[in-house]
Amino acid sequence: MSVGAIVLAAGRGTRMRSDKAKVLQVAAGRTLLEWVLEAVSPLDADEVSVVVGFDAEEVTAVLPDGAVAVVQDPQNGTGHAALVGLGGISKTHDTVVVVPGDMPLIRAESLGALVAERQRSEAAATVLTVELENPYGYGRIVRSGGAVTAIVEERDGTQEERMICEVNTSVYAFDGGLLADALARIANDNDQGEYYLTDVIGILVRDGHSVSALLTDEEEGFGVNSQAQLAEASAVLRSRINAELLDSGVWMLDPTRVYIDADVTVAPGAKIYPDTYLTGDTTVAAGACVGPSVQAHDSTIGEDATVVNAVLSGAVVGANASVGPFAYLRPGAVLAAGAKAGTYVEIKNSEVGEGSKVPHLSYIGDTTIGKRANIGAGTITVNYDGYDKHRTIIGDRAKIGSDTMLVAPVTIGDDASTGAGSVITQDVPDGALGVERAVQKNIPDYAERRRTRANEESD
Ligand code: UD1
Ligand code: CA
Repeated sequence: MSVGAIVLAAGRGTRMRSDKAKVLQVAAGRTLLEWVLEAVSPLDADEVSVVVGFDAEEVTAVLPDGAVAVVQDPQNGTGHAALVGLGGISKTHDTVVVVPGDMPLIRAESLGALVAERQRSEAAATVLTVELENPYGYGRIVRSGGAVTAIVEERDGTQEERMICEVNTSVYAFDGGLLADALARIANDNDQGEYYLTDVIGILVRDGHSVSALLTDEEEGFGVNSQAQLAEASAVLRSRINAELLDSGVWMLDPTRVYIDADVTVAPGAKIYPDTYLTGDTTVAAGACVGPSVQAHDSTIGEDATVVNAVLSGAVVGANASVGPFAYLRPGAVLAAGAKAGTYVEIKNSEVGEGSKVPHLSYIGDTTIGKRANIGAGTITVNYDGYDKHRTIIGDRAKIGSDTMLVAPVTIGDDASTGAGSVITQDVPDGALGVERAVQKNIPDYAERRRTRANEESD
């Protein structure tokens, strides 16, 4: 049996009050359209066409291989959109599934069940429906003796029809040939002057074909039309992601306060504390302990590593490494196994070698630190001369004294040290101590002399 799929994604979504097309709004790390296409994917459709219009170029850019964009201009309603979508499909399929691009909660299982139900019921169309306590605004499913006879829009319905609580989700499985035939015959003589896909149902029934309905979970029929609904959909997607992770053996103190995007990987045995945001292409390994209060974007957190109160972006934290509290790891920060980036430490484009520690109040940029080195509190790599960035190299087992300024380019050798408070502008050889500091002078009885002077002045 051949299957085609049409995703309706041409509308602007005016009620979002956003410059971006509605289907490009992001929930849990994916656009609404990507969530829908993800649900369509297991159908293994021979052809998928996506009807684009508003922001056509940007919408087309998020399509996966195998999905074809077809432009609908102007946007004359869902029926017109389906017709345009059919134009992107090369042949007549036994089943054509139609899904709106703004329903991110739709599940692959329901689309599969819909296709199976159409086959089982030998219907010309099967409509995915939900029952709503408040059906206001939705197309109502009109039945006669159990069989579906029409879908009537809110604005076109009679008083009696508006009492119906079973509504159209706008997800359908059609007989491909019959859909094409009916779409060619829909009119726009309705309240909005648009071509309604829902009118196809009435046409099929009048032609003597049967139409069935598959009732599903209210949640899945949820369409996003406003920012409030986007937030609601995001919360559901997040809780699905977290539920799956919990199932797999990830520990979370409070899953309602953990925000994990769709493409993040968290290994079983990892521990996640509240107010943690794992976004983009982030990976957390087994035994790692992340949070509270961590934002990690496009970052890798290794086995048994600890990250607390930190912001990571494009960073790599090795196994058993420790980050925070209050650390900022920027792109290219790579901590090897057992390394430490402690309190008020910022690291950028730098490797911190195995077991090396940057415990307090440091900026490390464009630097390579060897193994088991210790960077004293307040050390700064002075990597920028106002024109160019330069590198600092720190050898294995080096000991950088507190408050050292390492003016790059500069190399500190293996087992070398620097004196606290030094401004190091020259290389320090292996095993040497680099000191750059004025000799201390003590002025005796200073306090006493000050007091005397102050008394004289006030007399
Ligand atoms: C539609 C259904 C309604 C159903 C509801 C479920 C019709 C006439 N009505 O109404 O029965 O209860 O969905 O949410 O179909 N689109 C295009 N091109 C267009 C118009 C729409 O691509 O010219 C796309 C939109 O981008 C959107 C989807 O189709 O993704 C649904 O369109 P929308 O205008 O939201 O339909 P509703 O009025 O909600
Ligand atoms: Ca809608």
